[in-house]
Amino acid sequence: MATTLTVNGESRSIDMPDDTPLLWAIREGLNLTGTKYGCGVAACGACTVHLDGTAVRSCQIALGDAGGAVVTTIEGLGTPTDLHVVQEAWLAAQVAQCGYCQSGQIMQAAFLLAGNPAPTDADIDEAMSGILCRCGTYPRIRAAVHDAARRLQEA
Ligand code: FES
Ligand code: FES
Repeated sequence: MATTLTVNGESRSIDMPDDTPLLWAIREGLNLTGTKYGCGVAACGACTVHLDGTAVRSCQIALGDAGGAVVTTIEGLGTPTDLHVVQEAWLAAQVAQCGYCQSGQIMQAAFLLAGNPAPTDADIDEAMSGILCRCGTYPRIRAAVHDAARRLQEA
C-alpha cells in the first residue's frame, strides 16, 4: 500500500514496502538524490533530512512510520534563486570538498540554527560532529555555521 507524506511542501504518495528505509523512498521512490547513503546504520549522517522539523537519519526511519509526516530534503531547503541562509553561508565559505556528506551537513546545520540561532563553537562541534566528513571540512563547517547565524541576525 502506498504511503502518503508531504515532501518539500508537496503531498507525495510512495508505493514501496512499509519497511523501506525513508532514505531509499526519497532517493528511488521520488528521485530526490541529494540525500546520500553513507552507511545505512545510523553512523554517518549523510542521509539526514528533516522529519516534522527534526533532523533525522533517514536510513533509520521506515517509510510506513513516516506516513502523514512532513519531510524536508536538501532539495526543499532553499531554491537556486532563494537559497536557505545556511546554503548561502556554505557557498560563501566554499565548505564542500568532495561534497558527498554536505547535504547531511547542511540539513543538520539548519536544524541546529532553528533551535539555537547563536551557537557557540562547542554547540556547533557537538551538533555537527556526528555528521561524518572524511574530507575533514569541519573547520569550514564551523565558520559557515557562525556566518549563517550572523546572516540570520541581520535578516
Ligand atoms: S546512511 Fe544514514 S547514518 Fe549513514
Ligand atoms: S566533503 Fe567529502 S566527505 Fe565531506
